[in-house]
Amino acid sequence: MEARPVLPDAITAHVDDPRRRLVDQTLKRFQYRPDALIEVLHVAQGAYGFLGEELLSHIACQLNIPESQILGVATFYHAFALRPRGEHCCIVCTGTACYVKGGGEIVKALEAAYGIQAGQTTPDGRVSLGTARCLGTCSQAPLLMIDNTALGHEVVEGIAGRVAAALGKSSSGREPGS
Ligand code: FES
Repeated sequence: MEARPVLPDAITAHVDDPRRRLVDQTLKRFQYRPDALIEVLHVAQGAYGFLGEELLSHIACQLNIPESQILGVATFYHAFALRPRGEHCCIVCTGTACYVKGGGEIVKALEAAYGIQAGQTTPDGRVSLGTARCLGTCSQAPLLMIDNTALGHEVVEGIAGRVAAALGKSSSGREPGS
């Protein structure tokens, strides 16, 4: 089956984003079948930590499903969040390539630094820590996403400081208007 049309601005905005590439690879793997919606949403949720408006529109377009239907599914299941749970999202890839190169140790270091477990948000609401299964850019393993910024080839030593610095430079993980 042919790929669905993608808006030009969507291409330019996400061309370097490993999370978007992963979602697009998943869409392609399921041949853009509407019945793959739940699987695609799970991949998107894991990669981004939440399902933003633009992302849901993109998935709706690619699967040729009305946005209202996707919104209905995304709000029905507790596994999906429509907004970042914290002000910032820190997603550590724990897919095989990242894990064997220290992704698991990085998760532990960040859990200790922020006093939370992966999947939780700091009590002040500032940082949500999550993990994802392969963000599709294994050549950069181990890989983290700090909001929209990728940190590749990371090491556990000093990771908390580098994440804190990236968070300081990052604008909020929330989409405008959310
Ligand atoms: S395993 Fe982390 S990007 Fe593939």
